[in-house]
Amino acid sequence: MKDSLGVAVIGAGMAGRAHAAAYRTAPSLYDPTLPPVRLVSIADVNAGFGELAARRFGYERHDLSWQAIAEADDIDVVSVVIANSLHREVVQGLLDAGKHVLCEKPMSDTLDEARAMADHAVGAGSLARIGFTFRRTPGIAYIRDLIHSGVLGRVLHFSGRYWTDYGCSPSAPMSWRYQGGPGSGALADVGSHLSYVAEFLGGAISEVSGGRLDTVIRARPVPLGAVMGHDHGAVSDVLEPVENDDYAAFSVAFADAGGALEVSRVAAGHANSLMFEVFCENGSATFDQRRPAEIGLFLRDDPARDGFRQVILGPQHPYLAGGLAMDAPSVGFGQNDAFAYQARAFLEEVAGLPEADSLPRCATFDEGVHNMEILSAVATSAANGGAGVPVPSGTHHTDPHHGKVLS
Ligand SMILES: NC(=O)c1ccc[n+]([C@@H]2O[C@H](COP(=O)([O-])OP(=O)(O)OC[C@H]3O[C@@H](n4cnc5c(N)ncnc54)[C@H](O)[C@@H]3O)[C@@H](O)[C@H]2O)c1
Repeated sequence: MKDSLGVAVIGAGMAGRAHAAAYRTAPSLYDPTLPPVRLVSIADVNAGFGELAARRFGYERHDLSWQAIAEADDIDVVSVVIANSLHREVVQGLLDAGKHVLCEKPMSDTLDEARAMADHAVGAGSLARIGFTFRRTPGIAYIRDLIHSGVLGRVLHFSGRYWTDYGCSPSAPMSWRYQGGPGSGALADVGSHLSYVAEFLGGAISEVSGGRLDTVIRARPVPLGAVMGHDHGAVSDVLEPVENDDYAAFSVAFADAGGALEVSRVAAGHANSLMFEVFCENGSATFDQRRPAEIGLFLRDDPARDGFRQVILGPQHPYLAGGLAMDAPSVGFGQNDAFAYQARAFLEEVAGLPEADSLPRCATFDEGVHNMEILSAVATSAANGGAGVPVPSGTHHTDPHHGKVLS
């Protein structure tokens, strides 16, 4: 094991700050089994964003380019948290420099680029992983446990939505999120999350059908300054065309179940609503990201049979015992905590801690490609009047998801 791990984050935007904070928290989750983690640099082409994030989260410095991170001898681990279309160049450059890379979802802006990244990673001497953050959500991990243990049993039907409203105002400024080919909009942005959550619970998706992509706000104003995340700032009178989807919907086939997924960035009132119901042979479970510290559970053999009961997540559920500073019942849990567990898992793997003593590993680049194959199949389905489109089988089911959190 190395004496210490030097960490950097590329991108000081909305999610970059979550990564920066997560590396700060990761060593304090669970027992201190990691080597010392040095918070070295945050790189952003926007000097102000990088400098502020570095100071806020206690990083030693900030840099202006990914190349500076690649060349730095004091950095071992790098999160890539910039626009999807930039992932390939940066990830490959970092892998060539021997850095361990945690890339944000979706893996890239096109399936071809993602496949090229995975091919490149095969030859790398360092780790390449992708952040599927919602797998770290205790409620979602618990529902998966209930399915796999047989309490809920085999999935019969999955119904999921990821509704956001960052684009519901026509004055929301143009940004990289509105540029790219079919399916690179809401589908890639939040449909990527919903797709891997659906597979996390229901198993591999073998076909999509009924694909539909709609662009409902067709032009957006050019911002007058830098835009971070979903921020609204001052805009000019100049409009640019929106190139990709505001709304997407599709049906999925699992091995022996079906489901429907719907995503939006124009669902006013739903800032960040990942919601699903999963119906199984012995009952059903519900999850709503707005109330992430609970799930709804209905079991058919419950004598009362009076509908869903609220299960408040606590130390007896995945991730929480020993993982939060105060791991008592009902202390709550949020999306930022999931980033911290994700960072911890990545650092554990980089440090060479045995898998059995670690958090479930982060997703591989093969899983990232498979996720992109689902998104690509939806776009193909949409372009062909909703036709069924097969999804190549992925390797994601070979990853055991049970680590110390459940022991
Ligand atoms: N896991 C999650 O829950 C989650 C949430 C939001 C975003 N994301 C993902 O994170 C990535 C970034 O999204 P975001 O919302 O943080 O974007 P953002 O627009 O808020 O931030 C991107 C940052 O990258 C900087 N940047 C642009 N080009 C750069 C370059 N060449 N080198 C260094 N910095 C550069 C910009 O100045 C900006 O600060 C995307 O892949 C997105 O899909 C994941």
